[in-house]
Amino acid sequence: LKQVPPLELAIKYFEMYPEEKTPIWKNPCDYKRHQSIWSANKTCKRLPKFLVIGPQKTGTTALYTFLGMHPAIKSNYNSQETFEEVQFFNGNNYEKGLDWYMDHFPNLTNDSTDLLFEKSATYFDNADAPMRAFALLPKTKIISILVDPAKRAYSWYQHMRAHTDPTALNYTFYDILTAPDTAPRRVRGLRNRCLEPGLYAQHILHWLDYFPAQQLFVIDGELLKANPVLVMDQVQKFLTVEPYFNYTEHLRFDPKKGFYCQVLTDDRNKCLGMSKGRQYPPMDVKSGEFLKQFYSKPNLALSKLLTKLNFHLPKWLDESLGA
Ligand code: A3P
Repeated sequence: LKQVPPLELAIKYFEMYPEEKTPIWKNPCDYKRHQSIWSANKTCKRLPKFLVIGPQKTGTTALYTFLGMHPAIKSNYNSQETFEEVQFFNGNNYEKGLDWYMDHFPNLTNDSTDLLFEKSATYFDNADAPMRAFALLPKTKIISILVDPAKRAYSWYQHMRAHTDPTALNYTFYDILTAPDTAPRRVRGLRNRCLEPGLYAQHILHWLDYFPAQQLFVIDGELLKANPVLVMDQVQKFLTVEPYFNYTEHLRFDPKKGFYCQVLTDDRNKCLGMSKGRQYPPMDVKSGEFLKQFYSKPNLALSKLLTKLNFHLPKWLDESLGA
């Protein structure tokens, strides 16, 4: 038997098994042996009971804000690095480990029945997020919001323009959507961020590779805009959270904003910031036609999937299929 120093051995090992370089975090409290070596001042209560996974530009901030108004629902602390979203299960934050993740959540008292959650809209279409989320939080509930993927794509493009992204500023929406694979990298990158999250069925199926369907709830983002009280009632039921919070008294349509906002006083509302519910020109006809064609099969797949899962079909989906 040949012996080599540990570092050399490790290097050799990861050369042979590169897929094992990134650890997979599991819940220490699910294993007696792990729990017994887990420091006494650590608790498994600082983990979310549900995740809002996105995708981006579907109303995730509105949902996050409305959930935060509920007396028994507590969100993550805002992170200095990742701003409002924790973005743990996708990307490099995952390598920062379990303590890093748990530090984003308040410490609940032992008898608390409050529900912790986090919203990271980047999880939805990330290849690793479902497996990683399931490994750590197999019982967690998953909430996704869907709007017409064509609208979502345009909202993302407008979002990038508002952030003065040079590619979005220099190319029309149509140019971006129809960019060939020979286009510059940044153009293809923007095209993909506009189009790919909208392949909804494909991404939801990836979550269902891990999570049972009963743990998934799909919100119609158009209904969230038009009737958030109804949607928040559905969400409360899905989460089986108590007490029941009557959103009718806490949300009110703000004609100036053009969206529902939080009621502060009889004549004052608190709306989401300027970056949510932006004003921009309507989508050009050519882009609309391109997107109708592009999403026709993915939308059909979504409609079949939602029917199979017993979800009510959103009106925009019926319309997009020409029903
Ligand atoms: P636009 O700014 O393109 O209109 P996200 O928070 O996931 O980034 O989504 C942003 C979108 O949320 C906005 O896109 C807007 O249409 C939608 N939205 C839904 N309810 C809203 C609300 N009450 N206030 C503001 N925006 C809302």
